[in-house]
Amino acid sequence: MIKILAIETSCDETAAAVITEVNGNPQIVSNVISSQIDLHKKTGGVVPEVASRAHMEAIVPVVIEAIISAINNQTPRNNNQENINTTIKQYNNAISFLQKEIDYIAVTTGPGLIGSLLVGFNAAKTLSYALNLPIVPINHIEGHIYSAFTKATNPENNFKFPILVLTVSGGHTSLILMKDHNQYQILGETIDDAVGEAYDKVAKLLGLGYPGGPIIAKLAAQFRERLSEKRPAKSDLRSTLDARRSDVGVVFPRPILNDGTFNFSLSGLKTAVLREVIEREKNAELTLGDREEIAFAFEESVAEILSKKTAAAVAKFLPKAVSFVGGVSANGYLRDKIELEIKKTDDKLSLLTPAEGLSGDNAAMIGLAAFYHIKRNTSICRFNEIKVNSNLKLVG
Ligand code: KG4
Ligand code: ZN
Repeated sequence: MIKILAIETSCDETAAAVITEVNGNPQIVSNVISSQIDLHKKTGGVVPEVASRAHMEAIVPVVIEAIISAINNQTPRNNNQENINTTIKQYNNAISFLQKEIDYIAVTTGPGLIGSLLVGFNAAKTLSYALNLPIVPINHIEGHIYSAFTKATNPENNFKFPILVLTVSGGHTSLILMKDHNQYQILGETIDDAVGEAYDKVAKLLGLGYPGGPIIAKLAAQFRERLSEKRPAKSDLRSTLDARRSDVGVVFPRPILNDGTFNFSLSGLKTAVLREVIEREKNAELTLGDREEIAFAFEESVAEILSKKTAAAVAKFLPKAVSFVGGVSANGYLRDKIELEIKKTDDKLSLLTPAEGLSGDNAAMIGLAAFYHIKRNTSICRFNEIKVNSNLKLVG
């Protein structure tokens, strides 16, 4: 029975998890995330040096907490750093569990911020050396890809390949064809900004907080709600993208939507939002209504771009399943739109999405990816064989 301790520190979450094997499937027994969001709120984004230092402070308590949580066999939960209060006895129990129970260490080795990656990487290497355990280096994107494959979330999933994966986070936006375990073909990716990055930048332009994704999504939902109240007859805005133009003061572009590729471009959309903000601010300060309307128009653009590009890839590559992963996949509206659009092409398809708490960065997804590598006896290394690479590419 496989037992993995997984570590993830590629950006601004220090995370550790324990994964075990139950009836041949991976099970998440603990999943601890220490978020640096409060720290980065002050600067409106991640400052790499600050992130790296925060990882250094959090890494040992987070690993210990993940192990204690596994010992107690608690259901997966996300803990804040404030809650981590380890006693000496618990610490000793954790060390003993590490020595006796864990048989693999998994760690993210890229892509990501180099100073952040190095903290998890060195912690994993140290544990691997000290405990004489094999180490499984994992690409962060592969981790996100496996986040949609927990049986509990998507019981229908039994890995029928090929699977079309839409990966959308703060650093990445790509359409990937997963042909088999650990075999990937990149169909397209963003040629400029990532979608999550665009959400964060639009939130900044509107004078809102960090991270922008959930805030923009909330404002857009408020506007959508009001629009549907205005026209109760037959109107269901959750199932149509064609918001009546007269009810919305602005419509943003959908860059390279019809260019025939599976690439994405978000920078023109961001610039269009900037121009709209400047225009409105000439007359008066932005109101809540302005912010909601702009957030709505922005999210409609994103929804159409993501859903139509994914549906086009479905039509061309005829996948057996489609998944939507990465931090942005927490967005319920985008999930609905993408599912609706792919069903128009193939009504048997449903959208696989990560369980709650697994869309954003976490170590459970790193452990899940490692689980399948271990099962297939690939990527298993000694502590001195792994390398960190901030630009690591996903290769099939
Ligand atoms: O996967 P992730 O945690 O980190 C990276 O690997 O980049 O993704 C973080 C991104 C941020 O840009 C955040 O604004 C975005 O995911 N995000 C969302 C939502 N929740 C998080 N974007 C749109 N809607 C959301 N509900
Ligand atoms: Zn990520």
